[in-house]
Amino acid sequence: MNTELLTAPESLRRLVLDLRQMETFIEDPLVIQKADGVWYEDVNGRRILDGISGIFTVNAGHNNRRIIDAIKAQLDTMAFAPPLHATSPPAIELVRRLAEVTPEDLNTIKLLSGGSEATEAAMKLARQYHRQTGNPGKFKVISRFHGYHGATMGALSATGTRRRKTMFEPTLHGFLHVHPPTCYRCPFEKTFPDCDVFCARTVEDLVELEGPETVAALILEPVGNTGGIIMPPPGYLSELREICTRHDILLIYDEIITGFGRTGGMFAAQTFEAAPDILCMGKGMSSGYVPLAGIAFRDSIASAFLGREEDEVEFSHGHTFGGNPLAAAAGLANLAEIQDRDLCASARETGAYVRQRLEDLREFGIVGDIRGCGLLAGVEFVADPETREPFDPSLKFGVRVGQSALEKGLLTRFDPNWIALAPPLVITREETDLMLEILWDSIREVVKKTRY
Ligand SMILES: Cc1ncc(COP(=O)(O)O)c(C=O)c1O
Repeated sequence: MNTELLTAPESLRRLVLDLRQMETFIEDPLVIQKADGVWYEDVNGRRILDGISGIFTVNAGHNNRRIIDAIKAQLDTMAFAPPLHATSPPAIELVRRLAEVTPEDLNTIKLLSGGSEATEAAMKLARQYHRQTGNPGKFKVISRFHGYHGATMGALSATGTRRRKTMFEPTLHGFLHVHPPTCYRCPFEKTFPDCDVFCARTVEDLVELEGPETVAALILEPVGNTGGIIMPPPGYLSELREICTRHDILLIYDEIITGFGRTGGMFAAQTFEAAPDILCMGKGMSSGYVPLAGIAFRDSIASAFLGREEDEVEFSHGHTFGGNPLAAAAGLANLAEIQDRDLCASARETGAYVRQRLEDLREFGIVGDIRGCGLLAGVEFVADPETREPFDPSLKFGVRVGQSALEKGLLTRFDPNWIALAPPLVITREETDLMLEILWDSIREVVKKTRY
């Protein structure tokens, strides 16, 4: 297909992009044909800096030869193994290597293909675990408002983002939501640290009011994405850990975004102070070269699924592409890249630099809060930093900044009130400076148009 045909409405009208209004997309389509390092190239030859790793995915960077060669070698050997009857050498090796880097005794891993599969599997594992350990009444799942756990019905039921779920309601029964630690706009009008992580303590109130004997799991993103990079304040995750332990509730971390070096540790569970019982991984697990996801869980959970055939206690869950050998080969090479090049350290160092430089944005008088850790940064925009008054939603300030950045060659994640940066962990200092310069110019342009 030539470029004209690739960007023509009649070609694009057949596609449905994720969460996008296709009428708008077609007016100004972006069709990418190549990628290398932190750069994309569209079909017109325009270069775009990937400031968001595709979508928090390409941690090891684009066109990584080690990952590509590993996939090619596996492709020449075997592309598919029967998931019900057998496994394969790369799958066995991948779970062995993953068990070495997961926190504490989360040593058993079920391989899957996407983040939604992982969160669904985690919640199903929790329910089946309780059923098989004498607590069949434990079925409810607690999650957080603003959270996103995937597009499938169970994951969506745990999701706390109205825009993504209301049109599909009713969602599943037994899903409860609590407020996340949005400290900049505390829903309880408290201030950290005087609040003594009140929001975490409300989880225990909910558990007691609902009945601990009915609650199976608490699922959350250790660092929330939707809402503009919601950071766990010190003590928050350990408080939740204690509540879960006290009430025999399985703590599930959705590390689909935060895993594989993004927060500066291999997992956020290691960057912060408390480990979960089940950890969901995806996105950066293969850096996007092949669909790959999984869940890791504690030895004590794994043992509840072992028995004789007639006990019927095996995990009653599976997907055709889970444990696919190509995906496993990609996952192995990706993990080796993160470890050998110490990309966790790169995330910490570049991330600290990015956040420090973002502080300078305050001179525009539109920055309310700068949040993040590792190479995951969010900026919340406000009309007045003194009063924290948000911009009039109709101004779509953050969206306009994101769109302006894209016009200038930088891909970010944006929302009416915030913008996030999470480039590949291999980004150089020069590229980081360029990314920040483009963001700077975009904000300057939108401020000018908004204020004058
Ligand atoms: C935190 C989180 N969980 C789960 C998912 C779902 O993953 P997938 O889109 O691979 O199904 C996403 C996707 O963006 C996510 O950000």
